[in-house]
Amino acid sequence: MKQYLKYVRPYLFSFIVGPCLMIVEVIGEVLMPYFMSLIINRGVANHDVPYITLMGGAMIVTALLMMAGGIGGAYFGAKGAISFAADVRRDVFLKIQKFSFANIDKFSTGSLVTRLTNDITQMQNLVNMALRMMLRAPGMLIGAVIMAVMMNAQLAMVLLVVIPLLVIAIISIVRIAFPRFDTMQKKLDRVNSGIQEALTNVRVIKSFVRGEHEEKKFADANDDLKESSINAMKIMILLMPISTLIMNMTVLAVVWFGGNQVIAGTMPVGDLTAFVSYVTQILMSLMMLSMVILQSSRAMASAKRVQEVLNEEVDLTDDNAGQKQLEVKRGKIEFKNVSFRYYKDNHEKVLDGISFVINPGEIVGIIGSTGCGKTSLVQMIPRLYDADEGEVLVDDVNVKEYSLYNLRNGVGMVLQKNVLFLGTIEENLAWGDEHASEETIAAAARAAQAEDFINSFTDGYDTELGQGGVNVSGGQKQRLCIARALLKKPRILILDDSTSAVDTATESRIRESFSTTLKDTTKVIIAQRITSVMEADKILVMDEGRIVGEGKHDELLKSCEAYQEIYYSQMDKEVEK
Ligand code: UTP
Ligand code: MG
Repeated sequence: MKQYLKYVRPYLFSFIVGPCLMIVEVIGEVLMPYFMSLIINRGVANHDVPYITLMGGAMIVTALLMMAGGIGGAYFGAKGAISFAADVRRDVFLKIQKFSFANIDKFSTGSLVTRLTNDITQMQNLVNMALRMMLRAPGMLIGAVIMAVMMNAQLAMVLLVVIPLLVIAIISIVRIAFPRFDTMQKKLDRVNSGIQEALTNVRVIKSFVRGEHEEKKFADANDDLKESSINAMKIMILLMPISTLIMNMTVLAVVWFGGNQVIAGTMPVGDLTAFVSYVTQILMSLMMLSMVILQSSRAMASAKRVQEVLNEEVDLTDDNAGQKQLEVKRGKIEFKNVSFRYYKDNHEKVLDGISFVINPGEIVGIIGSTGCGKTSLVQMIPRLYDADEGEVLVDDVNVKEYSLYNLRNGVGMVLQKNVLFLGTIEENLAWGDEHASEETIAAAARAAQAEDFINSFTDGYDTELGQGGVNVSGGQKQRLCIARALLKKPRILILDDSTSAVDTATESRIRESFSTTLKDTTKVIIAQRITSVMEADKILVMDEGRIVGEGKHDELLKSCEAYQEIYYSQMDKEVEK
């Protein structure tokens, strides 16, 4: 938990002043019953009106000071807690941005959302509570005990019995509550994951008429959360009545024993009323402390989960990069005996002993059956994943030597599962280059064969896109994604099945425009259709994580069995059509 101290430091003022102001309130609280006992013992007993007025005035002043302290304490407490939480949230978010794909796969997105929102709120609540109670509860406890003992040490003995009883009750409640809160947060993760998945995929759910199934799945998760929350709350609920019961019994005992002393004339009446107040204060402060402890057990569970994100080791960084200044200039790519697997404990290799060279400016096609590792292979180039064995070189330098910024800036990649963002078409394209002029954007759109359909929209480049780019067709979306990548003016452009939803005529126009506008750029094109890569300088044929053929179309057609198979199966289909 030491880790969180650095989030306190910037707000030290609030963290110190808040509790100090609360002390003002406590002093007032402890003084009030004393003034009251004076009024009863001296003023009322002696019919001394001026004395009553004087003491009444003192009480009003004290009450006003208490109010000021209370307001100030609450303000600084809230301010400190909110600022603390905001900073933690910022850092967790930044950390997630740094995560590699492998890191993200480890936590579900729903869980990350819960950690960023609910878990941090729990921590904020604890800090807020602690700032208000930290000095107030112990202060009140100590102050009231001192006053009670000073007033009547004999009667104060009652406390010796009650306080341990209450402490035992509190400790057992907290011990039962902690694991229940932990379970509760985990269930909340599941609910949030469910919400997230259902909302982002609402179209798929509707088209498969799976609405009912999703509703049931969500209801189950939600009920689960409800059960575990009630389970945790049951314990919280117990705390109040048990403490109140103990408190009432104690007051009764005090009145019983104290009453006898008053009758015997060994104790003034005013002292008895004040004593009852002090006993109540002592028990109240213990209850406050137990609330803080309970909230901490809840917040600790959350803090641990937030810490897991903060302390997660990002397994793909450029910290050890030797040539951070280096930029991708020529666009040469070389794989030397590269092997890779997604799950390190699993011995199934997704890529196995891959070696090839792509020279600057070449157009290279990659073809192979689904699941053979094409996407995995190209993801090694901009270091979306790192190779387990072997080396990936760009411009004859290991990709690990580049800064991630320079490497990824030099490598434009249109991902197979690509998305657009909420905003206009222009804003989306400008992702590739924030400072691009209108002409540059239009040129990129033209090269990607997107200009015509953009202009056919009434709002043109200002057309608003829905989240994920839902209001354009699949083929239009792919072309916008290509245009966005082109704006980066990369030295290496990777298209992962990026024209699968585009008709063949448009696709060939895109290829043509590439050969003029992107002459010097190295182009790696993954495709399902052989026609998409037929004219490439070189084609890599993959099968089950290995390269089984390399060469031009004509050569492969003669020599590579796997290539012949794909070619003829596709040609047959053409003939059938
Ligand atoms: P790829 O995603 O590299 O295959 O997965 P691909 O050649 O591009 O396939 P298509 O043409 O797009 O369909 C290669 C293998 O890696 C596994 C997959 O199960 C597949 O067998 N894989 C992929 C994972 O285990 N985890 C991932 O995140 C992605
Ligand atoms: Mg793929």
